[in-house]
Amino acid sequence: MNNIKIEKASPSDAYGIQSLTIESSREMYKLCGWTEEEINNHFPLEKAQKAAEGLEKGIANFTDDNILLVAKMTDDNNEGKVVGCCFAEKHEDKNTIEALYVMPEFKGAGLAKELYDKAHGLLDKNKDTYLDVFSLNSRGVGFYKKQGFTETGKKTFDERFKGSNGEMLEITEMILLV
Ligand SMILES: CC(C)(COP(=O)(O)OP(=O)(O)OC[C@H]1O[C@@H](n2cnc3c(N)ncnc32)[C@H](O)[C@@H]1OP(=O)(O)O)[C@@H](O)C(=O)NCCC(=O)NCCS
Repeated sequence: MNNIKIEKASPSDAYGIQSLTIESSREMYKLCGWTEEEINNHFPLEKAQKAAEGLEKGIANFTDDNILLVAKMTDDNNEGKVVGCCFAEKHEDKNTIEALYVMPEFKGAGLAKELYDKAHGLLDKNKDTYLDVFSLNSRGVGFYKKQGFTETGKKTFDERFKGSNGEMLEITEMILLV
């Protein structure tokens, strides 16, 4: 897209990334069946502020193994607004994709693929790439399948993703083989 540039994130992008994460995640949780109330409870304002402060420090300490790319608008009215991000990491035995978010109004325009391709291009070429995605996130699962990922068969639950009925969202592990 010609009014967007993709670059490595800097600490000053932390608040933009946090806002994007919340906005993009809200749709994802809705897709996974959470109510508006559950989503609001999951993203209280104080938590978002703390997370952004943590991220700011985290980015400042990143090494070449931590790849956080942001897509930013370049037009005069929205200059610097973060509308997409992809976070990937290199580990001793594997690569991981930790997060991929695009603002709702930019979905379906190829931006997620562009971010993913750039981040993946910076990972170790001779290692498999793993990621976790909510099983009910059909959009995410479909996107990753399109990029060549397959399900490993491993399913997990995490206390952090518990809805008000006490049920945790199931997580599906996916892999892209070398
Ligand atoms: C998942 C997400 C990143 C996909 O973004 P997107 O903008 O729809 O993806 P793109 O437009 O870049 O699509 C790239 C390609 O994947 C395809 N694709 C996207 N979603 C797909 C799906 N569910 N099933 C099949 N193909 C899909 C597109 O058709 C496109 O194909 P093409 O290259 O042949 O044109 C986006 O919906 C999002 O931010 N969701 C909320 C957060 C999230 O779920 N993140 C993933 C888990 S962390």
